[in-house]
Amino acid sequence: MTYLLALDQGTSSSRSILFDAHGRIVAQAQLELPQIYPRPGWVEHDPHEIWRTQLSTARAALSQAGISASQVRALGITNQRETTVVWNRQTGQPIHHAIVWQDRRAEPACARLREDGHADSIQQKTGLRIDAYFSATKLQWLLDEVPGARAAAERGELAFGTIDSWLIWQLTQGKRHVTDVSNAARTMLFNVRSNQWDEDLLALLRIPKSLMPEVLPSSSDFGQTAADVLGAPIAIGGVAGDQQSALFGQACFKAGMAKNTYGTGCFMLMHTGSSFQTSHNGLLTTSAAQTSATPAYALEGSVFIGGAVVQWLRDGLQAIEHSGQVQSLAESVPDSGGVMLVPAFTGLGAPYWKPDARGTITGLTRGSSLAHIARAALESIAYQSAALLLAMSRDAVESGGAPVSELRVDGGACVNNLLMQFQADLLGIPVVRPAVVETTALGAAYLAGLSSGIYQSTEELTGLWVAERRFMPTLAPERAQELMARWEHAVAQASLPA
Ligand code: G3P
Repeated sequence: MTYLLALDQGTSSSRSILFDAHGRIVAQAQLELPQIYPRPGWVEHDPHEIWRTQLSTARAALSQAGISASQVRALGITNQRETTVVWNRQTGQPIHHAIVWQDRRAEPACARLREDGHADSIQQKTGLRIDAYFSATKLQWLLDEVPGARAAAERGELAFGTIDSWLIWQLTQGKRHVTDVSNAARTMLFNVRSNQWDEDLLALLRIPKSLMPEVLPSSSDFGQTAADVLGAPIAIGGVAGDQQSALFGQACFKAGMAKNTYGTGCFMLMHTGSSFQTSHNGLLTTSAAQTSATPAYALEGSVFIGGAVVQWLRDGLQAIEHSGQVQSLAESVPDSGGVMLVPAFTGLGAPYWKPDARGTITGLTRGSSLAHIARAALESIAYQSAALLLAMSRDAVESGGAPVSELRVDGGACVNNLLMQFQADLLGIPVVRPAVVETTALGAAYLAGLSSGIYQSTEELTGLWVAERRFMPTLAPERAQELMARWEHAVAQASLPA
């Protein structure tokens, strides 16, 4: 039997999943990751905890399956993206907690970059909008604020990494300082057209190049785990940021294929093949997972509050006791009765980009009940995702392609049939749930399987992808358009007047 081990280091937990060569789950383990909130708007992780929890789950998955590391052909890593760690190359000690992607402390530095007119050139090089979300200004903050950091960096003593680099450093006991293109693409320091760190951006942000890891295609030789880490050396053969890894695990390899991950937020990515496309509809351009040196791109949009709206129903509104109750409460009414809920609790992300928008409920009547609000809350996940997909289709058509013709789904909330059916109804295209919904980990395993020769091509992986259920649209297109127009009207009301 051939096995692949995927490490999935996410924002809220570290997980490890052992797959067989058919992409079936053999064993899995998960540990929560403590969140650190030093100030409002700041979010940190302890890098030691990231490593400790990740290693424990990897060992637990192996022992659960009763197999030894020597039976694992290769290891793949997928990770929360943008989160920034800096450590000392000599001692291996981080100089500070990791600054998490959600952290907003670098916003003033981003505002300066915008004011100084760098938005267009940064978008042309990196595909990104200037935002504190990405690693560049987090790294700059660490160099400026941690005593002695800049001088040490200039002496070449420090290493920067996203979480994949940090884990590889640990797994190889400091032998490799590497990352992959899909993670590098989230730093706002990487030129996604040339697949290299951008010298001008490094200079603009005053970041010594000696800090930066070597960048490899996502399916490559990233080194070997040190023998005593998991019991025997394992080749690290695949690395990708979690959203690009999910795109890969969903076998979306061709231009126009799209996936949406329904987690705390929602992340939608559409492959655009080997062509870099600048979005004219509020999306980001990013590197997709790459199996060779040839660039591959995706358009990406994220919704900040997806499944988190159900937590708000539970903890804020106290409408339900457990998240699982949301479907039955929402199903107790035939529709939302005209109620629209815009969960702009932390502003609105793509395609709106309205940081000042706030949560809003519209269309209330004397007949409105908690069930209508619960239904509207659930539907808001689908409305926001539909707005992303419409933006993607517009971009695709404007650049001479075809609109998206089906949406592959994964993530926790994709098990909710009511939500998936409503999503298909709004979009007017099939929404397809795969048999293995752990597509993030699967993507990393596939990347590792390709570089280690278990799989020969992405065509072979396409053959392994199996749909579990297709949700077909049942709503008349005019009605779907009417609903989207009402949604956009509610979004307009959630925004502060200019
Ligand atoms: O860009 C942030 C994303 O990679 C985080 O994903 O699943 O760890 O919340 P997740």
